[in-house]
Amino acid sequence: MSQSAFSYADGILHVEGVSAVSLAEQFGTPLYVYSRGALTEAYHAYADACDGRRATIHVAVKANSNLAVLNVFARLGAGFDIVSSGELARILAAGGKAENTVFSGVGKTSAEMREALDAGVKCFNVESIPELHALNEVAKAAGKRAPVSLRVNPDVDAKTHPYISTGLKSNKFGVAFDDARATYAQAAAMSNLEVVGIDCHIGSQITEISPYLDAVDRLLDLVEQIETDGATIRHVDVGGGLGITYDDETPPDIGEFVRAVLGHIEKRGHAHREVYFEPGRSLVGNAGVLLTRVEYLKPGEEKNFAIVDAAMNDLARPAMYEAFHRIVPVVKSDAKAQTYDVVGPVCESGDWLGRDRELAVEPGDLLGICSAGAYGFVMSSNYNTRPRAAEVMVDRERARLVREREEVRQLFAGESILPD
Ligand code: LLP
Repeated sequence: MSQSAFSYADGILHVEGVSAVSLAEQFGTPLYVYSRGALTEAYHAYADACDGRRATIHVAVKANSNLAVLNVFARLGAGFDIVSSGELARILAAGGKAENTVFSGVGKTSAEMREALDAGVKCFNVESIPELHALNEVAKAAGKRAPVSLRVNPDVDAKTHPYISTGLKSNKFGVAFDDARATYAQAAAMSNLEVVGIDCHIGSQITEISPYLDAVDRLLDLVEQIETDGATIRHVDVGGGLGITYDDETPPDIGEFVRAVLGHIEKRGHAHREVYFEPGRSLVGNAGVLLTRVEYLKPGEEKNFAIVDAAMNDLARPAMYEAFHRIVPVVKSDAKAQTYDVVGPVCESGDWLGRDRELAVEPGDLLGICSAGAYGFVMSSNYNTRPRAAEVMVDRERARLVREREEVRQLFAGESILPD
């Protein structure tokens, strides 16, 4: 977690200047809490390293789409990377601009394309030939030319979890490297498309720089070929994916990563092209914590369980990817620690948040599940008819509710029973 934003004062976890105990009392648990300072700091790390270069940051909305979070980035001048018209609506509602937005995703519908075209997005990151045809038709009907980039699959090993590795031949994403040149030629021949760039995304939670440099090399090789065919590639979009520290990972710092990528592109003689970054996790992951309260302690023969009020529906990452999130006491205790599996109340054995954790806890105690700002709330569900958590943003001494806790009646408000 961002060390400046999350720290202990008098043995109590604070988010900036606000005690996590008071946050839990005021807003209830489970509760997502974000630090505006940590979001700002992470954004600046990207922006400062891009300063004076032709480079732009597009926040990957999927990692955290709360309007207040998006608005913090919009105020800082960020662009956005969206994957649905729902995310487009969110960035517009949050003060973001369509003209600073790229539209990614492997399955955009024609309706979504039309909305994005009408809104004036900067670029469609297209992933297949059928999608090129569909976009061309949509643009023709709208009397416009759609700006396109092809997501090329550079087939590099991002050395990350298979579920979040996306740049291999075996993944569903992108245009195969070997087909890319011919696909660009097809795009260039379509009347209502304008080729403007090239993009890739090789995976997420990547903790080394070298896979990026490999991917950049592959893209630039291709750009050189495509330009001999007559197209103009104005920008190179290197995707998102820089990892964060959940446990003992040691990713490069953001500035080092950005400078390495930009330096590499320059060294290859492509400094005239604009470079796009699409970071998600590294902007928001360590800017958020999920607060939860211990309901019961259940000692067992093989395991002790700490049953808490957050569950897999609130934070899916452990259940989905066996992801590790540090779990810390909100109030430090001198009592003897025991080993617990921290689990939720959902009726699934997969409903765990942390395994084999040394904790000194009693029922009623609060815990903080760290690094929960990315792919946390956005992946939450209503499984077991559990209302989704509230979200709060802390800005120095002030905490603001930025999403109300759902109420049970909202969960089935759109449902109906048969008349007879
Ligand atoms: N751009 C594209 C096209 C993407 O598909 C993604 C993430 C990003 C940018 C942002 O990547 P980031 O900087 O956040 O790594 N739910 C998984 C992560 C899935 C990532 C999918 N794509 C998790 O919780 O680990």
